[in-house]
Amino acid sequence: MRLLLDSTTSKRHSGPAQVEATELKAGLPITRRAPAPHGAARLVAGRYRLRALLGRGGMGRVWLAEDELLHRPVALKQAVLSERTSDDWYPGDNPDRLLIEACAAATVNHKGAVTIYDVVREDSQNWIVMEPLSGHTLAELITVEGPLSIAQVTRIGLGLLDVLMAAHRVGILHCDVKPANVHLCDDGRVVLTDFGIACRMLDEVSDRTRLLAGSPLYTAPERLRGGNPEPASDMFALGATLFTALEGKPPFSNGRSLFETVVAVVEGVPAPCQHAGPLRPVIDGLLAKNPADRLTGEVARNALLDIQQQLRPGPPTEVLEGVNA
Ligand SMILES: Nc1ncnc2c1ncn2[C@@H]1O[C@H](COP(=O)(O)OP(=O)(O)O)[C@@H](O)[C@H]1O
Ligand SMILES: [Mg+2]
Repeated sequence: MRLLLDSTTSKRHSGPAQVEATELKAGLPITRRAPAPHGAARLVAGRYRLRALLGRGGMGRVWLAEDELLHRPVALKQAVLSERTSDDWYPGDNPDRLLIEACAAATVNHKGAVTIYDVVREDSQNWIVMEPLSGHTLAELITVEGPLSIAQVTRIGLGLLDVLMAAHRVGILHCDVKPANVHLCDDGRVVLTDFGIACRMLDEVSDRTRLLAGSPLYTAPERLRGGNPEPASDMFALGATLFTALEGKPPFSNGRSLFETVVAVVEGVPAPCQHAGPLRPVIDGLLAKNPADRLTGEVARNALLDIQQQLRPGPPTEVLEGVNA
C-alpha cells in the first residue's frame, strides 16, 4: 500500500505518483523532492532541520526532520492548538503540555511506546524530539483498506495490551487510545503514540478540562460522567479501537451533536460487531459500561493469546514420497 501525505490536508492517499511521502514514512533517505510544506526547512534549536509534515492531530503537528548533529532522521512534534478539526476535546493551552507529554511517554519506556529522544525549547515553545516511525496509523490503514482481519486485529490488540499494561505498571494512563494514535510500523511493531493527555494515576486530577480531553467516541463512560480515569478506562478505549479496526467504524454512532455522541457512549448499546468472530467476547468485555465488569488487561491478553493460538495454521500435511493419496 502506498500512502501520501498531502501537504495541505495532511491526509494520505493511495497512488503511484506519491513516492516521496512513502519514502519519508518508510524512513528512507530524506529527499527534497517532496513539496516542502509551509514551515519546512526551518532549523529548530540550531540542530533539527524540518523536512516534511508527517501528520497532524488536534493538538499538534509532527514533522520529519534531520538531526544535523547526529545525522539521523527524527520526528519533531510542535504544539499547534489552533488546528482543531474535529469534535474532540482538548485540554487548555499549557506551555508545558508537550513537556508533560514527553515525560509520560519517556516514563513508559517500552518498545510499544514511541521513543522520546529529547524536548527542546525555542522562542518559548517546546518541541518533542522522537523516533520517526515508519508505516501508518491504524486510522489511515482503516481509511485506505477498510476493516482488518481477525488475525490482524488480534495482533494489534496484543501489542496495545503489552504497552498499556506496561504503562499502567509504572502509573501512567494513556487516556487517548484511538486508531489515530496507534502506529503500525513497517517492521511489524505496534506503537502507541500521543501521550498528550496521559496522566499519572496518583496525581490529583484537578483540571476538569484534562478529564474531558480526548475523543468522546473512544472515551470510557465513567470518564464522560466526570469520574477520574483509571486503567479500565484505557481498556474501554482499546475495545472501541479494536471494534473500529474490525468494522471500519466505531462502536457508538457519531451523533449529530457532541451531546448525542456522549449519550450514545454512556447509555447506548454498541452496534453489532459483525466481523468479530472469536474476538466477540473480548470486544464485548472491554466495552462493558461498568469499569468493574470490564475485562482487565491480563484477562484480555490471555483471551487474545488463546485466539491467536487457534488461528495459527496447523503443521503442514506430510507429503510422503511415492505415495499417492
Ligand atoms: N513519531 C512519529 N513518527 C511518524 N509519524 C508520527 C509520529 N508521531 C506522530 N505521527 C503522526 O502525526 C500525527 C499527529 O501526531 P499526534 O502525536 O497524534 O498529535 P496530536 O496530539 O495533535 O493528536 C499522527 O496521527 C501520526 O500520523
Ligand atoms: Mg493524536
